[in-house]
Amino acid sequence: MTVFDDVPTERTTDETPRRIFRLRAARERVAHIGRLCEVLGRPPLRVVAGYTLKTNPRAELVQAAQERGFLAVTTSADERAWAIRNGYGRNRTIANGPEPIAAGGEPLAFAFADSVEAFVRNLRRRVARVAGVRLRPTMIASRFGVPIDDATMLRAAIVSSPRATVLGFGFHARREDFKGASWRDVATDVLDRAIALSEQTQRAIVAFDIGGGWTPEQFDRDFAADVRWLVKRLAAAVPTCRTLIAEPGQAICTQAEALLTKVLEVRERRERREAIVDAGFSDWPHTHDSAHRVYAIRAGRWELLGRGADRIGGRTPLEYDAVEGLRLPAGLRPGDRLLIADVGSYDHSMAFNLARGDETRTVHSD
Ligand SMILES: Cc1ncc(COP(=O)(O)O)c(C=O)c1O
Repeated sequence: MTVFDDVPTERTTDETPRRIFRLRAARERVAHIGRLCEVLGRPPLRVVAGYTLKTNPRAELVQAAQERGFLAVTTSADERAWAIRNGYGRNRTIANGPEPIAAGGEPLAFAFADSVEAFVRNLRRRVARVAGVRLRPTMIASRFGVPIDDATMLRAAIVSSPRATVLGFGFHARREDFKGASWRDVATDVLDRAIALSEQTQRAIVAFDIGGGWTPEQFDRDFAADVRWLVKRLAAAVPTCRTLIAEPGQAICTQAEALLTKVLEVRERRERREAIVDAGFSDWPHTHDSAHRVYAIRAGRWELLGRGADRIGGRTPLEYDAVEGLRLPAGLRPGDRLLIADVGSYDHSMAFNLARGDETRTVHSD
């Protein structure tokens, strides 16, 4: 049994390049993560999953998350409109991004302000039931979240808020920006600052948001233990906190899509072979940022390509549109199909059209 038994090899007759959505695998992943969050909670503190629309806004995924009780995590008004079209109410929606939130309408569940200015505006406009702030971890260089330098300003803004204001704090950071710190170091940095602000301003913390940033492998290895640790800390240090929000995007989406591509040309050389294919960097722009498994059909089954001296070249004019270090199957010919796995996250949402003409013939999609 390979991971692609849900992608029938008969699909090799489909027109290419084509994104194949693995609906069953995706729904199972959503259900697994939803269940995991439920068991990690320690009443009255719940652990709630949020589905981050920007990672992959595909309707089937948004709907699966909605049906499984995830919150919708949005970064823009466009995403909020899309969340609503896919079954979300504003009372199940989080806003977390630098775009100002318009006044009016039912309050959102949570708004995590990216700046002191946004926090003050969100309170004035009553955009959410819980006025949150995204804090920038001190050890991380980022343009997002309120930095430690703005602590005094933030404290003054909270002090000026109505006495009954309840607070949420959160962070989101990419592993590659941790600079040697562990996830627990980053969470501790943000939590300690949140607790200090709550004590100084006499406003209760009711929510803590840990963002996303786990690859599927990191999630499966670390998430449960790290969240269990954080739940314990929150229960002890912040007894008013009722909701711990996790927003795993890549951990849900990465394996949900694969890219079916056709070999256009094979360049056989003694030292290595190169296959030019009809997909390219623009169809999976995270080509080099994360390892993508590549499969070929052997004896009627998808077989994972091993490591070797061969190369796949994409169809675009970009110099870097190539993947080195693969072993192509013997006898690979023009017309054969390859399946590039793990393209369901930003390879989906950040794909762009290049060299496809103006009447955009985008990649086919299920
Ligand atoms: C606030 C927030 N939450 C969650 C995510 C999802 O992160 P990922 O898809 O890396 O898991 C992002 C991504 O940028 C984010 O900005």
